[in-house]
Amino acid sequence: MHTVLLAISLLVVSVIGQRVEPFDKNITISNGNDVDLECVISGVADNQFLSWTRITETDGGSVTTDVIAFDEQLAYDGSDPDVPNSPARYSLIKTSTRYTLEIDDAKMEDEGKFECSISKTDQKQAVWLTVKTVPEIDPITGNFFAHENKTYELKCIASGSPKPSIVWSRPGDMLPSGEYLSHGSILELVNMSSSHRGVYQCAASNTEGSVKRTVEITMDHKPEVTVVKEVVLAWPGETASLTCLFEANPSASLTQWIKVDSGRTIK
Ligand SMILES: *[C@@H]1O[C@H](CO)[C@@H](O)[C@H](O)[C@H]1NC(C)=O
Ligand SMILES: *[C@@H]1O[C@H](CO)[C@@H](O)[C@H](O)[C@H]1NC(C)=O
Ligand SMILES: *[C@@H]1O[C@H](CO)[C@@H](O)[C@H](O)[C@H]1NC(C)=O
Repeated sequence: MHTVLLAISLLVVSVIGQRVEPFDKNITISNGNDVDLECVISGVADNQFLSWTRITETDGGSVTTDVIAFDEQLAYDGSDPDVPNSPARYSLIKTSTRYTLEIDDAKMEDEGKFECSISKTDQKQAVWLTVKTVPEIDPITGNFFAHENKTYELKCIASGSPKPSIVWSRPGDMLPSGEYLSHGSILELVNMSSSHRGVYQCAASNTEGSVKRTVEITMDHKPEVTVVKEVVLAWPGETASLTCLFEANPSASLTQWIKVDSGRTIK
C-alpha cells in the first residue's frame, strides 16, 4: 500500500516538475497592517532552494534585486545595507506546500514587486504589494519675504499611495493667475506685487485622505491709508472723531493729521 502511494506522488512530481505559484498576485493593504505573501510550492528537490526577492525600481529606472529570504534561514540579518527594509518586520514561514513571507506593520516603502523562486530552475512568480497610505507633505517652501517684480516658485512635494494629487489655492482669494486652483507641485508667482502677498495653501489628496500646508508670503509695500468715513457731520460743540486705517510693511507709524484748508498740522 505504501509503495503504491509513493509511486503516485513521484508520478505527480515528475509530471508537474518544480513549481512556485503565488497565492495572490496583487495584494493591496492599508498602512500599518500585517500581510502574508504566500507562495505555493511543489516538486522542490533537496538540492534546490527557495527564495523571496524584492525587486526595486528606482526613479532613474535602474532595477535592484535584494534577496530577502531563502529556504529556512533569513538571509537578511539586519546587517545587510542592500536591503532597504526593516528586517525585524520581515519573517519567513515554510511548510511542505507554502513558503510565506510575513511582513508586519507594512509601510509605503514595502510597496513593490516581490518574487518567489526556486534556485537552478526558471521557476519564479511575482507578487505586487500595494500599501495604501494617507499623503504626507514633504519639504514645502517655507514662509518667506518676497521682493516686488521678482518671480517665485512655491513647491509642495507629497508622498502617499495611491500617488496623491496636489492642488494650490489661496484661502479666500484667487491665485495671481486669476484661477482659484492650480494643479501640480509647483506654483509660479510671476512679477510679485503687493496684491500677491498673503497665505497660499497646498493640499495633497488620495483615496486615503488629504493633508494641507500653508506658506505665507510677506513683502515690502508702500503704506496704504484708508479713511473710514470720508464725511463726518458734527454739530458745533459736539465731539467728532476722524478715523484713519493704515497698513504697511515694514510697519509705519501714523505721523500726522493735516487740516487741508488751513494747511495746519494738528498733531
Ligand atoms: C499587478 O499589479 C502590477 C503593478 O500594478 C501589474 O503590472 C500587474 O499586471 C498586476 N498583475 C495582476 C495579475 O493583476
Ligand atoms: C516693478 O515694476 C514696476 C512696473 O514695471 C515699476 O514701476 C517698479 O518700480 C518696479 N519695482 C521695483 C522694486 O523694481
Ligand atoms: C513681468 O514684468 C516684465 C517687466 O516689467 C514684463 O515685461 C512682463 O510682461 C511681466 N510678466 C507678466 C506675466 O506680467
